[in-house]
Amino acid sequence: MEQYWNNRQKQKQAIRSGELWYDDGGRHINAHGGGIIKYGDTYYWFGEHKDDWTSNAMVGVMCYASKDLINWRNCGVALSVTAPAINQTNRQGGRRRGGATTDSDIEQGCILERPKVIYNPVTKKFCMWFHLELKGRGYDAARYGVAVADRPEGPYKFLYSQRANAGTWPLEGSPMHFDEYLKRDFGTGQMSRDMTLFVDDDGKAYHIFSSEENYTLQIAELTADYLHHTGRYTRMAPGGHNEAPAIFKKDGTYWMITSGCTGWEPNEARMFSAPSIWGPWTQHPNPCRGPKAEKTFMGQSTFILPAGNQYIFMADIWRPRHPRDARYIWLPIEFEDGKPVVRWQDEWIPSTITK
Ligand code: GAL
Repeated sequence: MEQYWNNRQKQKQAIRSGELWYDDGGRHINAHGGGIIKYGDTYYWFGEHKDDWTSNAMVGVMCYASKDLINWRNCGVALSVTAPAINQTNRQGGRRRGGATTDSDIEQGCILERPKVIYNPVTKKFCMWFHLELKGRGYDAARYGVAVADRPEGPYKFLYSQRANAGTWPLEGSPMHFDEYLKRDFGTGQMSRDMTLFVDDDGKAYHIFSSEENYTLQIAELTADYLHHTGRYTRMAPGGHNEAPAIFKKDGTYWMITSGCTGWEPNEARMFSAPSIWGPWTQHPNPCRGPKAEKTFMGQSTFILPAGNQYIFMADIWRPRHPRDARYIWLPIEFEDGKPVVRWQDEWIPSTITK
């Protein structure tokens, strides 16, 4: 117990990657594969609620709020998955699972991963995108889902889920490299798994996702309301097997950190840069430094948060046997010769507090 309170005290003053991170109710924050937006003077952290024994979505997307990035208030469930109604007659189009029915794509027990939220100042809506796998189909569906809310913490209303950019070729025109799956999925839409969102300085937003059986990332422009694809998209690092994309822009250069594809097991981070979101993207060496840097400190990237004068690299240390206990890595990005470096630190204080 004493250890618990000591830890809580430490948590209040610094970010300590890999340790339990308590919310205002004294519970380990449950927002995995997450992302953050700042709205007003408050940061909102969205992430996957994970259960004790399954990584499937039993609750939905959680939201936490903070003004200092260290102390987080639990705002509850931002997007709820739909609980199956037992013993109801199957409505038309509904899927039947062991006697329970629901018409919802985001049925309890589906896989709902890597939710990200962006704010649209024109429509004044908070737009959430996530990776969705329909219940009972493993990772076959490979869809993205979209939900919307009037307030940052929700509740979010689920709008739809589907595959990406059906019937549309990428901007490059006729694809050439590792394009077997791109061609296969041309009619039904491109696969959409690990993902992030990015809003550029000009207000245009992009959806970046692992596609083509996770061989190739795709970067797709969003419509002005941030709720659909426009049909303009490019392929990045074809055949490179990248997951877990996280992106930021500094001094006109776009930087992306990704992982390789080894499921819940950690691997070596990759880094890319480009002068435009449309590329060309150039690969650089692993930006991580310090113990276990060759395994991304045992984590996998999820988001890069611009906060004050810093960029914070966020990653997940997955615990597939006890998913709720997965831990967070948050480290400030340093720059060496103009290139991002992620150096391990046992604890550090965000510049939003020290300034
Ligand atoms: C990882 C991915 C996670 C999750 C996991 C399932 O590669 O980044 O979000 O999908 O695989 O094995």
